[in-house]
Amino acid sequence: MIKPQVFADHDAVSQRAAQWLVEGLREKPNALLCLATGATPVQTYQRLAERRAAEPALISRCHVLNLDEWGSLAMDDPAACGYSLRTTLVAPLGLADRYLEFDGQAVDPQAECARVGGWLKLHGPIDLCVLGLGLNGHLGFNEPAESLQPHAHVAELSQASLAHAMLRERAVRPSYGFTLGMADLMQSRRVMLLVTGAAKQESLRRTLSGRITTQFPASLLQLHPDVTLLCDKAALS
Ligand code: GLP
Repeated sequence: MIKPQVFADHDAVSQRAAQWLVEGLREKPNALLCLATGATPVQTYQRLAERRAAEPALISRCHVLNLDEWGSLAMDDPAACGYSLRTTLVAPLGLADRYLEFDGQAVDPQAECARVGGWLKLHGPIDLCVLGLGLNGHLGFNEPAESLQPHAHVAELSQASLAHAMLRERAVRPSYGFTLGMADLMQSRRVMLLVTGAAKQESLRRTLSGRITTQFPASLLQLHPDVTLLCDKAALS
């Protein structure tokens, strides 16, 4: 049973989340990090990046993998997941040569998934996996469905994903996404799920309800042996 750790607000969650990453990296400096984007973890990554001056060795050996990407978006599109992670964490920490992301504009999307899957096979399993919670329970772009996919794949996007704030400015919405699969996430040694804001109340309730269903992918985290769930008071109904 996952027991959420509840904090006063988003800032406090971000502070603790950054600390979780710091502790994980101290324990295993050559860790593989898998990082979600979206609004929730941005401040966590900024706080981690701020640690560089005080503790440069902390991030000198780790690898970073971006969890998911919007299909058809250019890598330098500000709405792209990779763009977000590169600007908040990868560039400030000088991690470019130890970082991998899906190319949203890959000509052959299946081959792109095979490329990322192959890289994960080489560098994995994931040691520290930071996840955000989709309003519909998605993790990455593992969307609610009758069955879920284990590894990197091209995903059909749900209405909830297409309504995501990252795409707000875009006239043309992507019709598909790239994401690591549920087995990739479940095989992570440690997972941290971040949930903040009143809009996530129902999603958090379903994550913790005890009912495990592919129609709400985050509920599968209840089967994982090492999940840290950090939330703020607003998200906890
Ligand atoms: C997006 C991304 C996920 C992200 C989630 C939550 O669609 N595909 O990687 O974790 O939805 O986003 P937010 O933190 O903005 O609520």
